[in-house]
Amino acid sequence: MPGFRLVHLSDVHVWKYEFNPLRLMNKRAVGMAALLLGRARRFRMERLRQVVERVESLAPDHVLITGDLTTTALAEEFALAFEALRPLLRSPERATVVPGNHDRYTRGSARGRRFERSFGPFLGGETFPWLRFVADRTAVLALDPSRPHLSARGRLPAAQLAAARELWEANRADVDRLVVACHYPIAAPPGLEEELAWKRLENADELTAWLATIGPHLYCCGHVHHAWAFTPPALPDEVCLNAGAPLLLDRRGDDPPGFLEIVLDGGDVAVTHHGWTGARWIERPMARRPGFFARRSPETSIAAPG
Ligand SMILES: [Fe+2]
Ligand SMILES: [Fe+2]
Repeated sequence: MPGFRLVHLSDVHVWKYEFNPLRLMNKRAVGMAALLLGRARRFRMERLRQVVERVESLAPDHVLITGDLTTTALAEEFALAFEALRPLLRSPERATVVPGNHDRYTRGSARGRRFERSFGPFLGGETFPWLRFVADRTAVLALDPSRPHLSARGRLPAAQLAAARELWEANRADVDRLVVACHYPIAAPPGLEEELAWKRLENADELTAWLATIGPHLYCCGHVHHAWAFTPPALPDEVCLNAGAPLLLDRRGDDPPGFLEIVLDGGDVAVTHHGWTGARWIERPMARRPGFFARRSPETSIAAPG
């Protein structure tokens, strides 16, 4: 198939038990309790190699990972995640990584920039937001609303949103196909709103108001552990994509965990979900949007106020 093949992976949630009681203080104690109670059983680490092999078999031009690579942001978890994902991280030109709230789980991990130190070559800048070109006139704009916080809710700092506007204005003339990468969804499709509500982006309305002005774009996120492709009613020019959590146990057998394959061919967008049924991989078409990016007209390329 011609075109640019982007694999969107998210929420791998590599975990490692932490037995040193001195490190079980503060928030990590909460995280560890949750981990011990359920996460370890729900995230099947032994499947990570299979997932990486499946991604590799598609020979993607680029891999985008939208956060929650770890569970409690331990240095050991970052090392494990990097090692497991290494086949997809051979070249900084072919992979982009943004953090999730679990990668900034404790104040120490955030202050020490553990995520940046682990995945630095696959980031487009030292601080968020940043924009990097991944193909001809195709760019990823990365945002980071994650923070060490007792709740799983995120907040995009006002300064970061303002910088994103400036970054976009400075680059928009060179971009035909824009992918916004942000761990936090700004909306969820019907049936998943409640799941997003308790872990939402607190100022999603502010981000939505800006995104509504930038014309056609893909919004790649994770955080809510379900794969989806939908257009939020407030953002008719957006296809919002969630890759889900590829190692999550599918107890009911109706939500196969996996990742998204996004093919950009000219202005066309085609999204396929690769899901693991427990016995085999299945492919489900999730979105077909012919001419999606072709709608970026000279008018939408002119800066909208606000
Ligand atoms: Fe997650
Ligand atoms: Fe998350």
